[in-house]
Amino acid sequence: MYQVRLAILTDLDLLQDIERAASVLFPAGRLPDSDDVMPMSELEAANRDRLLLVSLRDEGVIGFAMSKEYDGLLHLAVMAVHPDHGKRGVGSKLVQGVIEQAKRRQLRGVTLTTFRDLPWNAPFYGKLGFRTLSDSELSFMLRETLGKEESLGMTERVAMLYSIAA
Ligand SMILES: CC(C)(COP(=O)(O)OP(=O)(O)OC[C@H]1O[C@@H](n2cnc3c(N)ncnc32)[C@H](O)[C@@H]1OP(=O)(O)O)[C@@H](O)C(=O)NCCC(=O)NCCS
Repeated sequence: MYQVRLAILTDLDLLQDIERAASVLFPAGRLPDSDDVMPMSELEAANRDRLLLVSLRDEGVIGFAMSKEYDGLLHLAVMAVHPDHGKRGVGSKLVQGVIEQAKRRQLRGVTLTTFRDLPWNAPFYGKLGFRTLSDSELSFMLRETLGKEESLGMTERVAMLYSIAA
């Protein structure tokens, strides 16, 4: 019923609207600007790198996950599922797809930053095998990402890692 595949060029125009629609899940005040979505140039770059996954329902795109490779890891930079299709396992399938991509590239794991307390953020990733990193474990990139989020007024943010056994 729901499928995950690599994005194709014609999918790209749909993704920012899905991210906007998914932002309704966040309580007021948690996001600096719910219209602040992933720029098209970044989606295009991830698509070129084959690091943009989409989920489909009956051929229609209803979610996506965009990653970047850095320092022997994949960083899951953004993921969203349209709320009409939420809580049906679509997000979990996307995360599993990203983990598979990291394994195929023989990388050490998958990182992300997310809200510590919202059930569909850190607790959701925790159920999929991610763990929260302590301050001393943060790479330069993760520290920079959390710092940028803090400067935008975002609180309760954490970095998480899914480790892939060597
Ligand atoms: C995160 C997100 C992609 C998950 O997509 P999804 O298709 O709903 O994911 P799943 O169905 O696999 O799992 C969702 C889990 O979130 C948790 N959850 C709890 N309350 C929830 C709520 N009100 N809405 C959605 N999920 C909720 C549950 O653990 C749920 O799993 P369960 O239904 O098995 O209990 C989606 O919620 C979303 O787009 N959120 C807004 C954007 C976002 O937070 N992106 C991730 C930022 S790091």
